[in-house]
Amino acid sequence: MRMVDIIAKKRDGSHLSKEEIHFVIDGYTNGQIPDYQMSAFLMTVFFQGMSAQETAKLTMEMVKSGDQIDLSGIEGVKVDKHSTGGVGDTTTLILAPLVAALGIPVAKMSGRGLGHTGGTIDKLEAVRGFHVEIPEEQFIELVNRNKIAVVGQSGNLTPADKKIYSLRDVTATVNSIPLIASSIMSKKIAAGADAIVLDVKVGAGAFMKELDDARELANAMMEIGNQVGRKTLAVISNMEQPLGYAVGNALEIKEAIETLQGKGPADLHELCLVLGSKMVVLGGKAETEDEARSMLEEVIKNGRALQVFKEFLSAQGGDASVVDDVNKLPQAQFQIPVKATESGYVTGIIADEIGVAAMLLGAGRATKESEIDLSVGIVLHKKIGDQVEVGEPIATLYSNTEEVGEVINRISKAYDYSIDKPSPMPLIYTI
Ligand code: URA
Ligand code: CA
Repeated sequence: MRMVDIIAKKRDGSHLSKEEIHFVIDGYTNGQIPDYQMSAFLMTVFFQGMSAQETAKLTMEMVKSGDQIDLSGIEGVKVDKHSTGGVGDTTTLILAPLVAALGIPVAKMSGRGLGHTGGTIDKLEAVRGFHVEIPEEQFIELVNRNKIAVVGQSGNLTPADKKIYSLRDVTATVNSIPLIASSIMSKKIAAGADAIVLDVKVGAGAFMKELDDARELANAMMEIGNQVGRKTLAVISNMEQPLGYAVGNALEIKEAIETLQGKGPADLHELCLVLGSKMVVLGGKAETEDEARSMLEEVIKNGRALQVFKEFLSAQGGDASVVDDVNKLPQAQFQIPVKATESGYVTGIIADEIGVAAMLLGAGRATKESEIDLSVGIVLHKKIGDQVEVGEPIATLYSNTEEVGEVINRISKAYDYSIDKPSPMPLIYTI
């Protein structure tokens, strides 16, 4: 087989066989195929697309390029959740204890990564003592006992994806549905998921700006899952503004605790119930999403979900008393209000800009070496549809410096206003 023939075949719009896709992925991962040929190949995929069968084969070749986590020692259906690019997306922190409270095993492997705020592990480390350096046997035992544990990423998961993603980044081939879908699904499958719930974000602050594109991406990922025997369901959710109010590590833990107490922001609470219901159905604990939803509401109301969260924190060395006293979380030195520059109704909040503002305060990593400040971040006070007067606070910065001019500018620019009240927008689009 020759790479040049495979590039030409895809360029001319033909479908590739399993052997051809294996040749490309294996060859590129092992360094036998050079970047220039892979770049040309990715560009042909960008323009010609891939069939559902080709995309599924591509995904499984990427899975096989590295280690696969063996979760067979855990009883029950391992259901994982993935959100495509949210800002201050606290859903994982809430959903994990929520579905675990209903007996669904949550065996989460998480990374730190780059981003506006830390990854799930960074956020959890805002709880004093919490750590994820646990041996694999203990991880499996914890999930079997408490139904929930989080471990740091170890081993060599989907090296093909890492290498291809870096190349896509510099060859203008990131925004291709089969490439995005295979990239995301390969990581979930390699991490041992039996079933997957996807939360595809759409809107100004998301990867997918248009509903049709989001729908296409969701369908492509569901097709992959179903072709390779991992039941997959998807939700499309609105990202015209950040979810909830808090963006920042300790601030998001606080918001997660409030949501588990049933006192969280309405949009965050609702999205967690919708995603959670799908997880509970896939996990085989309920027949219908309505039934699952009532079960989830019950474990919030009776405190069981919060109790599971405490047990989870303690089991991994964390000080679970933060749940009852959130003032024990890391606190920033200064609280600085950001004031509205106009009067009117809020019509949009560019989530990305809020994310960058949080990162400038120190909540996220700009480079792999950056240190995160777990105490800092932003709490929004006004969201779409809210009325504001000029000079009224729209957000509060939690900061360890008083030099926040650029941060305030970013947040001010992220907000859009209008004299007219905007019509309500759906949080979730059906698919
Ligand atoms: N997230 C991923 O993991 N991969 C993509 O290709 C895009 C977003
Ligand atoms: Ca949030």
